[in-house]
Amino acid sequence: MSQSILIMGGSSAIGQAIARDSSARGAVVSVISRQPAPLESGWFWYQDALQSEASSEQCIEQALVQQPDTIVICNGVLHDEAGMPEKTIRHLDSAQLAQRLHSNVVIPAQYLRCLFRYLTRTPEVKVLVLSAKVGSITDNQLGGWYSYRMSKAALNMLVKNLSLEVRRLNPSACIVTVHPGTTDTPLSEPFQSNLPQGQLQTAAQTAQRLLKVRDGLTPEVSGALLNWDGSVLPF
Ligand SMILES: NC(=O)c1ccc[n+]([C@@H]2O[C@H](COP(=O)([O-])OP(=O)(O)OC[C@H]3O[C@@H](n4cnc5c(N)ncnc54)[C@H](OP(=O)(O)O)[C@@H]3O)[C@@H](O)[C@H]2O)c1
Repeated sequence: MSQSILIMGGSSAIGQAIARDSSARGAVVSVISRQPAPLESGWFWYQDALQSEASSEQCIEQALVQQPDTIVICNGVLHDEAGMPEKTIRHLDSAQLAQRLHSNVVIPAQYLRCLFRYLTRTPEVKVLVLSAKVGSITDNQLGGWYSYRMSKAALNMLVKNLSLEVRRLNPSACIVTVHPGTTDTPLSEPFQSNLPQGQLQTAAQTAQRLLKVRDGLTPEVSGALLNWDGSVLPF
């Protein structure tokens, strides 16, 4: 069980549920988010407007004072006012692709770079980066969602690469990407109507599942893409 957890992109519906669940289990909770702190949460909260790498670095330094044993990165965008995921390559827009790569890969990459020293020095530290099964190249049977799929596939490579580098210096660390399962949040909201019965989880259920995955992590699985039940998914 985590004694101290840091949640980055922590205003995400899943991130908030993980924060609440961890808090209820007695863990110290720290959050980094673009959003301002809620009035009352009892959590350490660091607002990062993502304006510069220096400001992100400063937020992370402050959050690491709580010595988290678990770090969860939640940042991820599937759709926004600028556009929905592409059904066909004819809808691919290079500005939207660049934006998805930025929020889904560049931001997590910057955060992980800032965390590198900490990850190499903290025994048994665990990092869960929220990815998506649709980022699996092997598993892709349907196509579509070009920008999101490409960005999550790149995120999986980022984490695999980092796990190898950290392992050389801290063999007890475990850094994975995780598919949280389809969860009722603003991200999945436009796509929920066609889901098979029982496939949609609440954010609270997903948080429970992810914290269970966290508790089962061992250094041997570092670098893997895991499903919400802890099983290994193909890249
Ligand atoms: N919901 C699902 O069914 C589902 C399925 C598969 C994978 N996932 C993944 O799970 C993670 C959390 O998703 P969610 O459902 O909780 O989504 P959500 O509530 O929409 O949260 C979105 C997250 O992305 C961050 N974000 C939004 N715009 C951003 C930008 N322009 N630059 C950087 N960060 C930005 C937010 O950070 P702030 O705290 O800074 O606002 C927040 O952490 C995502 O990585 C998503 O891809 C979700």
